[in-house]
Amino acid sequence: MNQLDFNAFVVSQKNDKFISEIKSIKQPKLEDGKVLISVKYSSLNYKDALSASGNRGVTREYPFVPGIDAAGTVIESSCDKLSKGDEVIVTGYDLGMNTFGGFGEVIHVPTEWVVSLPNNLSLEDSMMLGTAGLTAAACIDSILMNDNFLKPVAVSGASGGVGSIAISILSKLHISATAISSKKESEDFLKGLGAENIIFLDDYCKNDCRPLDKSVFSNAIDAVGGEILSRLISQVERHGVITCCGNVNSHILNTTVFPFILRGITLKGIDSAESSIDYKSYLWSKLASEWKVDLHKSTKIIALDELSLEIDKILAGKQIGRVLIKHNI
Ligand SMILES: NC(=O)c1ccc[n+]([C@@H]2O[C@H](COP(=O)([O-])OP(=O)(O)OC[C@H]3O[C@@H](n4cnc5c(N)ncnc54)[C@H](OP(=O)(O)O)[C@@H]3O)[C@@H](O)[C@H]2O)c1
Repeated sequence: MNQLDFNAFVVSQKNDKFISEIKSIKQPKLEDGKVLISVKYSSLNYKDALSASGNRGVTREYPFVPGIDAAGTVIESSCDKLSKGDEVIVTGYDLGMNTFGGFGEVIHVPTEWVVSLPNNLSLEDSMMLGTAGLTAAACIDSILMNDNFLKPVAVSGASGGVGSIAISILSKLHISATAISSKKESEDFLKGLGAENIIFLDDYCKNDCRPLDKSVFSNAIDAVGGEILSRLISQVERHGVITCCGNVNSHILNTTVFPFILRGITLKGIDSAESSIDYKSYLWSKLASEWKVDLHKSTKIIALDELSLEIDKILAGKQIGRVLIKHNI
């Protein structure tokens, strides 16, 4: 391999199938307005699994290197504020969608996508969080708008990336969390994160969903959409906030105006990928300080050649916690 070549998890289309292999790629030349980063860690998010399986709504052209998250050191930069060796994080925007992403050992991205690694967070910590952590932080930031926490906060998709980190942060903030999960086997894991109550999906969805149900949650963090979000909207108390970030259950939402006009609730959409770089920096600083959580116990560390298996698992809704990709192991 040439000194400037690097390894990447490359997804290609062969007839109707999408296949992945670890390939050596030529390092691009630095362009104006961009920075070349040596990626030390990435992480696995649901969107990466969509890109890796040929979802054209995420990635238009193949061969492609997914990975919406990357943390590493600057190799070469075209701007004064970034210098060789600086430790940086890049998440979202077009990274891992149509710009080669963190499943490669080098990325070449616009300088304005880059956040400096905050003090008190290692590169490894930052990718244990990744986009899932940044999204959980955006959800927490939104629900803190309603400072009445007399009832628990519901967290759906609880054993997944966004859900598990949201529960860990709520627990750190001494806010009671009710985990809503499809996996009976995740009970000990969710308790270990600090969930005070756990409701399994079979029970949660047992009765009909009413337009306005008994209010049992102060606020809610939803990562799955569909029927679960419909139920949460009808069960959040007066002036509660519900964040909506995902659609693994369904993109369809059935609801009525009643929770909005009779309880004044807020449904807050979260789009962490396209958030302003200033807002991302603010969330990273929170994740490095008041909202800092230790994710070592809930994170699996893998090498590039172990990714395919983990991608299948996340697509099947079977992942528990986070998957960290460590390059060069
Ligand atoms: N808008 C944004 O900015 C943003 C950012 C990050 C992620 N997202 C989206 O948020 C969602 C969650 O992301 P993630 O990274 O946490 O994914 P993840 O790690 O795969 O977690 C998703 C969790 O949802 C639950 N789940 C899976 N399939 C389900 C189904 N069919 N019905 C009900 N629950 C199901 C599972 O948890 P349980 O078994 O515990 O229920 C699963 O672990 C995805 O849709 C992702 O694309 C959006």
